[in-house]
Amino acid sequence: MGTIMEELLRQHRDAEAMLVKLAAGVGRVQREGASGAGVLDDLGDLRREIHGEVLSHFREEEQALFPVLGRHIDSASGPIAMLMEEHAIFRQLELQFEEAVAALEAGFRDGWEEKVCDAADSIARLLPAHIEKEESVLFPMAEDVLSADEWEHVRRLWREALAAVLPA
Ligand SMILES: [Fe+2]
Repeated sequence: MGTIMEELLRQHRDAEAMLVKLAAGVGRVQREGASGAGVLDDLGDLRREIHGEVLSHFREEEQALFPVLGRHIDSASGPIAMLMEEHAIFRQLELQFEEAVAALEAGFRDGWEEKVCDAADSIARLLPAHIEKEESVLFPMAEDVLSADEWEHVRRLWREALAAVLPA
């Protein structure tokens, strides 16, 4: 792993690549329906990617970067609170997406194609602006105020956040 900041930015680029795949997946649902060849496989891959990578990125921010940055800036209001709130909204959308994909996989069609598209559209609206806020406001702030020791602390918390979810 490079610096924490490099890793966070890399994860953001991965999230943007995921959004491109998500748009393609939704386009296929709209054109071919969930019964189109490979459409459900694509949705299943997207679900795993969103659940695995995006949620683990949020955990790393929430459990490593935000607490250390919260010593310098108020975390009950301002950018940290706003970003946490957006993470919570995203988690709801992610659940809706998962639920709709599961329903389609189980063979239900009644309204679920629309729901999977709605959840994906909401994710696609939220995430780019969220990433932009972090990269234009929060990350520069972190670069400004955190000392080398504090970055080391972020790195330690990050490892702990990973260890809590990954099998040893
Ligand atoms: Fe982020």
